[in-house]
Amino acid sequence: MSTLSGEVFYPDPAFATHADDEALRAAAAADPEGFWAARAAELGWYKPWDKVLDRSNAPFFKWFTGGSTNIVYNCIDRHLTGPYKNKLALIWVGENGVDQQTYSYFSLNREVTRMANIIKAMGVGKGDKVTIYLPRIPEVIFAMLACAKLGAVHSVIFAGFSADALQDRISDSESKLVITADGSWVNGGIFKLKDIVDEALRFSPSVENVIVVKRTGHEVVMDPLRDHWYHDLTALPIAKGNCPTEPMDAEDTLFILYTSGSTGKPKAILHTHGGYMVGTYTTLKYTFDIRDEDRWWCTADPGWITGHSYLVYGPLLNGATSFMFEGGPTYPYPNRWWQLIEYHGITTLYTAPTAIRLLMRFGDAWPNRHDLSSLRLLGSVGEPINPEAWHWFHQVIGRGKCPIMDTWWQTETGMFQICPTPSMPLKPGSGGKPFFGQEAEILDEQGNVVADGEEGFLVLKNPWPAMLRTLYNDDARYVQTYWSKYPGKYLAGDSARRDADGYFWVIGRTDDVIKVSGHRLGSAEVESALVSHPAVAEAAAIGLPHDIKGNSIHVFVVLKMGIEPTPLLAEELRKHVSIHLSPIAKPDAIDFTEKLPKTRSGKIMRRVLKARAQGLDEGDLTTLES
Ligand code: PRX
Repeated sequence: MSTLSGEVFYPDPAFATHADDEALRAAAAADPEGFWAARAAELGWYKPWDKVLDRSNAPFFKWFTGGSTNIVYNCIDRHLTGPYKNKLALIWVGENGVDQQTYSYFSLNREVTRMANIIKAMGVGKGDKVTIYLPRIPEVIFAMLACAKLGAVHSVIFAGFSADALQDRISDSESKLVITADGSWVNGGIFKLKDIVDEALRFSPSVENVIVVKRTGHEVVMDPLRDHWYHDLTALPIAKGNCPTEPMDAEDTLFILYTSGSTGKPKAILHTHGGYMVGTYTTLKYTFDIRDEDRWWCTADPGWITGHSYLVYGPLLNGATSFMFEGGPTYPYPNRWWQLIEYHGITTLYTAPTAIRLLMRFGDAWPNRHDLSSLRLLGSVGEPINPEAWHWFHQVIGRGKCPIMDTWWQTETGMFQICPTPSMPLKPGSGGKPFFGQEAEILDEQGNVVADGEEGFLVLKNPWPAMLRTLYNDDARYVQTYWSKYPGKYLAGDSARRDADGYFWVIGRTDDVIKVSGHRLGSAEVESALVSHPAVAEAAAIGLPHDIKGNSIHVFVVLKMGIEPTPLLAEELRKHVSIHLSPIAKPDAIDFTEKLPKTRSGKIMRRVLKARAQGLDEGDLTTLES
């Protein structure tokens, strides 16, 4: 193996597949479509595809055109006739640590079929939109798969979003059905989801039915015509019997998932059955060396893309055993995760740097109380991992022997784009190289490739199967956002460097997206929540570096004439954002100001505000409005 520059961790010989991996990398580089076709052929199709990649209407790329499949056929149906039938598909543990459920592929099929029968009886079919607003309980997985089985399009909303945010997303998708729960458990308390849904539905006329899963058991108001307890529905004859999996065109929509961009209106990223299936299956298999005896734990919530791709679909496509925990990492004590790893024999832990930094703060004694020797691989996603957190994760959790797969990707990409393989030498803080079949570049403003080591805009050169197909109902914004700065190349929205060994180092967003504890939020969303408060005339939100959360939200607020800035008002505004957008978006600091720095065309100069908030030089102010 060649000598690499900087700090390098060479792989354990147990992952001695480096030669194979590199041979595959070379073959995929020479013929990406051939590589993807071979992976697609490992999955089941009702009808084979005619063409692997159709570039005729780029950047609206199509994959496996003419092919017919259904992701659920590959996640569940095909496992029912083979040795995986009785294998555990899902192990679930509730926040209290007492509630536990396990599902084999056989029983997962039973649950998904039951839910599919119910929603079909409510008139949901191919192409219909269903909003899922559920906590991390098994029903969230059943609901996603039930939709996919029928060809309906799911739109999962993270159950930490508030009524306004939920309502925007329900209305935009024109969902007919909402699947929710009475509440979710958050650190021993109840987050009242059904109340939030009721509030959101006051302005969502498209919704005909609401299915409510009983989780917390507190009293909720049920609309007799619209709302149905899930446990009542499962007892009805409509829930019984088989429910055929709908054959879908490879390019039919599987789901939409809202994510934040540069404007106040979140964008709905659209993914399809065929390509997304092939992409998530392949990336999980090669990056995490999925084996039959593995117990795979992705700590993400199904409300985000990581949960979609690597908690739900990727593991099931691989016939793996996926572990899901309802709670967070520190409740009731900061050994919760370590306890679960020991008890359930977790082999792979895939999590976010923010969680690692949080747990690291509590010291080594908590993990050291537990036998973590079942772990063989670790993973990181969502933001750059700082070397300190990387070393702690590697040494204390991975006992120096588990490679860390730092995977860079996005809601838009659907699957890993830059990531190592377990057999590859690792550099802390770098995601390694583009995945098989992918090529990435770092460009300057004019589109020239920058020299190794220099920072620039990260672009992806090759289409990939799990790529977003468009923004739901907004083709123009799709082209404009991702394909217009450098025609023919996908603009990721991140700045990055490439080193002389070909390893990529992602630095952070170049747009107004703020990553708070790995959650993706937009400056404009926070700002529009703030200006909905009667005291606020104008607001600007920025992300500032934060030791644990990665970024914290700092806002500048201009008050309406005659309103006095007070600490009480600042607190009220913080709460206002929490209630109207999400508790995760609650600003850490509010600065009242007379005026916001703007360009002559009226654009807020967040760069200037960032410098001001950090006490740094405010830089070139020549374009500032006078
Ligand atoms: O800035 C990058 C960061 O997260 C952004 C995508 O956010 P989201 O769509 O929410 O998806 C997160 C999970 C896939 C990226 O543009 N990001 C994601 N993974 C990494 C990362 N930054 C550095 N290193 C990573 N491994």
